[in-house]
Amino acid sequence: MNFFHYKGDELYCEELRVEGIAKKTKTPVYIYSYKTLKRHYEVFNSAFRGLNHMVCYSCKANSNIAVIAVFGSLGGGADIVSGGELFRVSRAGIPPERVVYSGVGKTGEEITRAIKTGILMINIESEGELNLISKIATRMKKEVGVSIRVNPQIDPKTHPYITTGLKKNKFGIVWEDAIRLYKIIKESRYLVPIGVSSHIGSQILELSPFLDAVRSLREMVYQLRDMGIGIRYLDIGGGLGITYKDEAAPHPEEYAGAIKEELKDAGITLILEPGRVLVGNSGILVTRVINVKIVSEKTFVIVDGAMNDLIRPSLYDAYHEIVPVHKRESKKEKVDVVGPICESGDFFAKDRLLSQLQEGDLIAIKGAGAYGFSMSSNYNSRRRPPEVLVVDEHYFIIRKREAMRDLIRGESIPEFLRV
Ligand code: LLP
Repeated sequence: MNFFHYKGDELYCEELRVEGIAKKTKTPVYIYSYKTLKRHYEVFNSAFRGLNHMVCYSCKANSNIAVIAVFGSLGGGADIVSGGELFRVSRAGIPPERVVYSGVGKTGEEITRAIKTGILMINIESEGELNLISKIATRMKKEVGVSIRVNPQIDPKTHPYITTGLKKNKFGIVWEDAIRLYKIIKESRYLVPIGVSSHIGSQILELSPFLDAVRSLREMVYQLRDMGIGIRYLDIGGGLGITYKDEAAPHPEEYAGAIKEELKDAGITLILEPGRVLVGNSGILVTRVINVKIVSEKTFVIVDGAMNDLIRPSLYDAYHEIVPVHKRESKKEKVDVVGPICESGDFFAKDRLLSQLQEGDLIAIKGAGAYGFSMSSNYNSRRRPPEVLVVDEHYFIIRKREAMRDLIRGESIPEFLRV
């Protein structure tokens, strides 16, 4: 359920015409719907009613501080994976006691900052990291809540690039090692073992991998309690999939219902780290057709957005629905929608049946709210697009389009090269 819809032939975001926004901001432009973000959060959060829980939005999915602030204002926390994300969530006003920190390669500097900020929990991903956190906490004489990110070795049946809980993945720690490390943590002066965590992958469309993981983590919590380690938080990560095309994604009620059933007597506070399910279908990328090029049998619709703006089709062969911003009666044709970047991999769709498009037309690429702008780059020295948040009949520019000078910010030419 989202608030992008047609009124007559015109695509609207909430109460605003998408074309009107695109005319003001120019294209490409990301447009997010506040009401959709809020609704997704509320549906997800309320699905867990009856169980103590905390929704820590995985801000890698869309790290604009206004988007993070939407969830913060609704009572949510954040899942972070870098010092940069810690900075963002602090700026967005998320209280530190609602922040959890995952990631396989946390540096000493990042750990120091996280401890100083007083976040709820660091999810430890290796023995080396445990030692580093312990050393830093001891030096700072400050206690830090930790969990071990357990690798439950479950196949989430999703794209190989976004599975994380398999034995061959770099993430997490296998059961036996985790138990051994919890014993070390128990003996340490400044590390406080408060949680068990995991994250098995992303865009998961079946419930069974989640339930297998939850059962396995629950066992771990019980075993740790038997060892005198009082675990309070069980963090099951994110990963709930969404509909991009015609996939049947589980409803949050279904997902939560099954998880609650497993955890009703576990005496824990559940932490969830949803990303995509909250923001994915809350955003579109609007781009304008530069020209239509017909080459022998193929038609290329060349648009002003590109893989640097939204890399998912190029990187994962991901499907994103493409719709006209202004619908017109016209016959359909099979086209490739491509950007201007000098790479054959620069495409948004291949052999897609779309209503005929012509120079100047606007199209909306849907499902672009997650891993869209947050994975964007300046490749081909393209300025990154603006981001707009629509609220009813108002809109806010929550990130300006980059200026030319932004492209060379921080660069300099050594004196000897100056002519
Ligand atoms: N927690 C942890 C520790 C994660 O690594 C991730 C995502 C999440 C939570 C949020 O997962 P979500 O609910 O969004 O599925 N760039 C890829 C997705 C990579 C996901 C990485 N980790 C894509 O565009 O599909």
